[in-house]
Amino acid sequence: MKVTSSEFVISAVGPKQYPEDGLHEIALVGRSNVGKSSLLNKMMNRKGLARISSRPGKTQTLNYFRVNQMLYFVDFPGYGYAKVAKTIKEQWGKMIEGYLKNREQLRFVIQLVDIRHAPSKDDVAMYDWCKQIGIPTVIVATKGDKIARGRWLQHTKIIRQTLNMRGGDTIIVFSSETGQGKDELWGEIMRRLRE
Ligand code: GTP
Ligand code: MG
Repeated sequence: MKVTSSEFVISAVGPKQYPEDGLHEIALVGRSNVGKSSLLNKMMNRKGLARISSRPGKTQTLNYFRVNQMLYFVDFPGYGYAKVAKTIKEQWGKMIEGYLKNREQLRFVIQLVDIRHAPSKDDVAMYDWCKQIGIPTVIVATKGDKIARGRWLQHTKIIRQTLNMRGGDTIIVFSSETGQGKDELWGEIMRRLRE
């Protein structure tokens, strides 16, 4: 996929601010610090469009990015970050739950997990929850550059098993550092949008 235009649209704190032009939406979910914003920048060829931080919990709203006047990526707040105040956590929870359950424009979810570690309880809960609602999921194993290529298969197997991945859901190894997996992920996105 050739990205000819990409732009930040809005940091939405609730449904009233979600775009109304009816374009397809793809949500990015995953633990804080797993690399959601970095992946988006890589996918859009834009270094600083989505904010990246070594401080977990940076993204606290639903951040909309429009690509090629064709689709929106929706960058989600990361889950599983203990230091965020409970009241804020509850707010996010409600917003995210409402979005995933009710947003008609949502086509599928890209869920990021760190290739180095087995998915956490939160990762498993998020995956199960999407399956319960009936949302297709693409699993992206991020930070692929942090382990040797020869170990990818072993690690993705553990991810597949821990999540108990359901038929039809794919797993892609990705690195925001090297661009590994970028073309494959774009291919998967376009295939799913055509379905
Ligand atoms: P929140 O917004 O807090 O939920 O985090 P996030 O999931 O958006 O993570 P972000 O993209 O901000 O990245 C967190 C840290 O991981 C940053 O220091 C990135 O540079 C680093 N990082 C992200 N992706 C990769 C990758 O593929 N390889 C390596 N080596 N580092 C990465
Ligand atoms: Mg982020």
